[in-house]
Amino acid sequence: MTINKPHISVQDLNVHIGDNHILKDINIDIPDKSVISIIGPSGCGKTTLLKSFNRLLDNTQDVKVSGNVWIDGENIYDPKVEITHIRKKMGLLSQRPYPLPMSIYDNVAYGPRIHGIKKKSELDAIVEEQLKATALWNEVKDRLSSSASRLSIGQQQRLCLARGLAVGPEIILGDESTSALDPISTSIIEDLFIKLKEKYTIVLVTHILRQAARVSDYIIFVYMGRIVEYGLTDQILRDPKETLTQEYVKGYIV
Ligand SMILES: Nc1ncnc2c1ncn2[C@@H]1O[C@H](COP(=O)(O)OP(=O)(O)O)[C@@H](O)[C@H]1O
Ligand SMILES: [Mg+2]
Repeated sequence: MTINKPHISVQDLNVHIGDNHILKDINIDIPDKSVISIIGPSGCGKTTLLKSFNRLLDNTQDVKVSGNVWIDGENIYDPKVEITHIRKKMGLLSQRPYPLPMSIYDNVAYGPRIHGIKKKSELDAIVEEQLKATALWNEVKDRLSSSASRLSIGQQQRLCLARGLAVGPEIILGDESTSALDPISTSIIEDLFIKLKEKYTIVLVTHILRQAARVSDYIIFVYMGRIVEYGLTDQILRDPKETLTQEYVKGYIV
């Protein structure tokens, strides 16, 4: 599949952790302003692949990464690259929400403050904009100074998304980011991803095929550390070319 002007371009990526070869010869181009789902059985390397996009693997012991990941034409594995600059481009949403132990307002204002924004009116505007972007504003506008921990888990996850968006990323990475949520909260987050792709490139790890079907434009199927197949969502789910993909998606009924 040819992607014009990829936002993320992975070239000959191999990841070893200790003696284990976790990701094998990964080559992939990810388009911008789309939702891409990474699917595959547990342990196949989905999270590792996602982490390679923002150099989160640097924190793993005994890890060896070779190959290149280009983002906006910049190789993030170039030793001269500044990691903070790379990470600023990405918002990461993990399996469970981890709001900071502070108010709803301060959670969203946290990143902008670190980046030097001090003026109250400016912070107010950012907080309102991002809480609106994550469909939380109406639910929390009257209690912005109350603790984030009082929100429901689904609301906390949207708050974490708002906190990430407040620093102006271009890419949103989600690792099974609805797995702790009830069906209604899950569907709110899924709708957000679909809306947010107008402005962001969104890469999601999910093991729920229906979720991949609902939200994504493209699907990457990973098996034992390799990309088996990558294509449009409909093609992967309805007309997979590879036997391994056929086996994996056959439980999925359209
Ligand atoms: N920090 C680590 N140390 C050792 N092995 C790891 C580590 N992280 C992941 N792995 C191994 O790498 C493989 C892929 O893991 P992961 O990317 O988390 O898979 P997935 O997200 O698809 O379930 C698994 O075999 C896992 O045990
Ligand atoms: Mg995982």
